[in-house]
Amino acid sequence: MCGIVGYVGPEQAAPILLDGLRRLEYRGYDSAGLAVRGEGSIDVVRAVGKLRKLEGALRERPLPGRVGIGHTRWATHGRPSEVNAHPHVAGPVVVVHNGIIENHNELRERLVAAGCDVVSDTDTELVAHLVHLALKEEPSLEAAVRKTLSELHGAYAIAVLREDEPERIVVAKSASPLVLGVAEGEAYCASDIPALLPYTRDMIFLEDGEMAVLEAGEVRISTVAGEAVEREPEHIDWSPVMAEKAGFKHFMLKEIFEQPRAIEDTLRGRLDREGGDINGSELGLSDGDAAEVQRVVLLACGTSHHAALAGRYFIEQLAQVPAVVELASEFRGRNAVVGPGDLVVAVSQSGETLDTLVAAKEAKARGAKVLAVANVIGSAIPRMADAVFYTHAGPEIGVASTKCFTAQLVNLLLLALWLGRRKGTLPPEESRRLVEELARIPVLMKDTLQGTRQLVANLARRYLDARDVLFLGRGLSFPMALEGALKLKEISYVHAEGYAAGEMKHGPIALIDSRVPVIVLCPADSSYDRSLSNLEEAKARDARVIAIATEGDERARTASHDLVEVPAVDEVLTPLLTVLPLQLYAYYVADFKGTDVDQPRNLAKTVTVE
Ligand code: F6R
Repeated sequence: MCGIVGYVGPEQAAPILLDGLRRLEYRGYDSAGLAVRGEGSIDVVRAVGKLRKLEGALRERPLPGRVGIGHTRWATHGRPSEVNAHPHVAGPVVVVHNGIIENHNELRERLVAAGCDVVSDTDTELVAHLVHLALKEEPSLEAAVRKTLSELHGAYAIAVLREDEPERIVVAKSASPLVLGVAEGEAYCASDIPALLPYTRDMIFLEDGEMAVLEAGEVRISTVAGEAVEREPEHIDWSPVMAEKAGFKHFMLKEIFEQPRAIEDTLRGRLDREGGDINGSELGLSDGDAAEVQRVVLLACGTSHHAALAGRYFIEQLAQVPAVVELASEFRGRNAVVGPGDLVVAVSQSGETLDTLVAAKEAKARGAKVLAVANVIGSAIPRMADAVFYTHAGPEIGVASTKCFTAQLVNLLLLALWLGRRKGTLPPEESRRLVEELARIPVLMKDTLQGTRQLVANLARRYLDARDVLFLGRGLSFPMALEGALKLKEISYVHAEGYAAGEMKHGPIALIDSRVPVIVLCPADSSYDRSLSNLEEAKARDARVIAIATEGDERARTASHDLVEVPAVDEVLTPLLTVLPLQLYAYYVADFKGTDVDQPRNLAKTVTVE
């Protein structure tokens, strides 16, 4: 996720900005840059890669001056490159930005038609041009930024400099975070608290729809509509490590709780709520491509493979196109039958997993069209693919994937909706209903996380000594059972099995006794009755049974020893909620056992080996 830092005061800005960016490194980034107001002009230095590259560039071209802004970029629009790195310049205006501007296509067309020389692929540069144009009519940078904000849809935290107002930074926020720091004779801004901790602990949190003018020792806040806002600074006494994790004990827990935001960002600009459709331009596929698809082949590894298993279900249900899922490591080198007419969907958080990359290349070489679903912009799989549909979960730091998993589920669901509409298998009113429900999912995820956290932590404590745990589910709950088991195995080192509930009687039922907790996913869906009878079978064999069921389900409450409730949603959306308590369960078992939650033994975040 991009990081922003800004400084105005009596000190040299560049070292403070660089230090602040270093303290935001944990957010992940692919390029970085600074802009400092020097003698008469604002100078910009940018570099691709780690901050030491930027430091090297600054040694060759130092930026003296006492007012400046800095940025680390996690690419969302356009590949990591120097031209796409921030700050972006338009005439006398310099901008850094964190977020996603939804109406960037329309703005780009308008600005190019107006004669603006747009040089990068980013949405941020468009903001710089808009402010520059607004300055032709508006008296000040503050007024020009205010005017520009009325033209932006989406998420942003921006910091803006103007050559003719050398002592000032104007900032604004909507949906992306921005914190202001105040100290004697100084003012700061940053995406996150850790950047500012060594300089000040007195901070003001800007709210959505607010902007501020920063000058040495003065911060003036107003709403975008122009009303003044009075807000006292809060004193923050977090340690730097606590601050990086936003007060959570581990990155994994922070990322679990970030899921509502990750899903909101992944949905941003993609839902056509009126038409009950998906904005296809994001997908990189045309209606003609949809017509050609005869089969979908999903390739992935690990957790992404579980998302792909759910993806098959979405595609078959909504688009009625045959779909198969392959473990990429088993697909490659097998001479698998694949070719023209197949849409191969390579699902990978990192976009770098070697098995998925090689499998996708083999499929492409045989004439299949490859669509990448990845979280890291410009990574290897998106680069080789014919089309890319990014998840916008932001960088995931915990090795165990959580927020990227649910973002993958969302993208695969969007793909299925898009295909279903174009294949004529999904009636518009049905798709409109699903689009509406999907738009509500971030709020329901938040409710589920808050509502189940304590209960699940108690369950984790109660069953802490279990040596084996069984997860059961049917239909879309089957891949969630697999995912629940994988999460538990990888971070707590407890043996766990995920099983299709209907398969239990074909073998695993022999494992069950009073020492084995059995977690049964039985939301109110088309398999509900059968899932509940599997739960009863496990209970009859003395297992301790935990049901993950829909709110208010009295049958599940009576049948189980413990009930974890999730809100009622359409069947295709259930995985986005039922998986949340499973992630929390794995997390708390691991935390109580004292394992290295964020860096489990023997595991790597990106697997680029055979
Ligand atoms: C488990 C996990 C891994 C990855 C797998 C594929 O929590 O994160 O199983 O899902 O290594 O990685 P990507 O999605 O980067 O291809």
